[in-house]
Amino acid sequence: MIDLRSDTVTKPSVAMREAMMSAPVGDDVYGDDITVNSLEERIATLLGKEAGLFTPSGSLANQLAIRMLVKPGEELLSETNSHIVRAELGAAAVFSGITTRTWPEERGVLKAEHALEIARPNSGPYLVSTTAIAVENTHNFGGGSIQPITEIATLRTESRAMGIAMHLDGARLWNAHVATGIALADYAKYLDTVSVCLSKGLGAPVGSVMVGSKELVATARQWRKRYGGGMRQIGILAAAGHYALDNNIERLADDHRRAALIAEAAHSVDPSFVHPQHVETNIVALDLRAIKATATEINSALRDEGVLASALGPKFLRFVTHLDINDSDIEATCAAVKKVLGNALVA
Ligand SMILES: Cc1ncc(COP(=O)(O)O)c(C=O)c1O
Repeated sequence: MIDLRSDTVTKPSVAMREAMMSAPVGDDVYGDDITVNSLEERIATLLGKEAGLFTPSGSLANQLAIRMLVKPGEELLSETNSHIVRAELGAAAVFSGITTRTWPEERGVLKAEHALEIARPNSGPYLVSTTAIAVENTHNFGGGSIQPITEIATLRTESRAMGIAMHLDGARLWNAHVATGIALADYAKYLDTVSVCLSKGLGAPVGSVMVGSKELVATARQWRKRYGGGMRQIGILAAAGHYALDNNIERLADDHRRAALIAEAAHSVDPSFVHPQHVETNIVALDLRAIKATATEINSALRDEGVLASALGPKFLRFVTHLDINDSDIEATCAAVKKVLGNALVA
């Protein structure tokens, strides 16, 4: 099976496993794991922040960051289809008493003015006060779209003037960095907190890091423990993160090139399925409204051809390229996509 459901399905390579095997470890709750400590410092430095915190998941990294920025009863603004709002199972409300309010964007691409229109800081005794805004780069459900840095900068300037903080869900910030050439720290400088994932395009089996100021990260460390995320000899996991940073960032360009080929294959059947210029990184979001079949039906026809994708809505099918996918997998995928979509179009 050619598994394009997500870039989380990668399996650690032999070389990554060897790096994990030989990692020096210690009890991380005591601060003794030097492999974890060096990974946290490394990612904080890459992102131009004072400190970092290793977490088992991107969701926990996001949730800890949000918890630090927004008090119970206050409000976080985020785009309608952001992962924080749609795919973290209400964690901000459940764990932190945070309310969220959303605004929609075409393919999830930020327009600062839209977020600013709904921002309501210091709302007094009757209305909920906005205290933070979350941005997602790249935007998963938007089809891997890259956030324009100029919009992030504008949002930062305007929202800071209102006393509003900003968090970046940078699960795939690496992809935005490779596609644009913009330094990770140049993105991160506009945000109070940033989360990045090692277990998506970078191919580690587990792990994310949340970065911010020293003080904020120290408090988040306490909350990680409180949530049950204090882990012990996890240098074996952090070593996979180091290996991923050393070896798997620049190669994301291959994933982007391969995603573009899938987009071109779908576009060649019917232009309404996807505009190739909208596929900026490793995610291809197909809009199936031109055909009768649902995403689930197309997905099962693709499965019969040996290709796995994700049906994320009645008419929304997603493919994600990653490091366990090669050029011949893509050739086979493009043939399957043309055949299945071609059949669906005439049905
Ligand atoms: C944009 C984005 N943010 C956060 C996450 C959460 O990561 P995790 O699955 O490690 O909790 C994901 C997972 O796919 C994601 O796509």
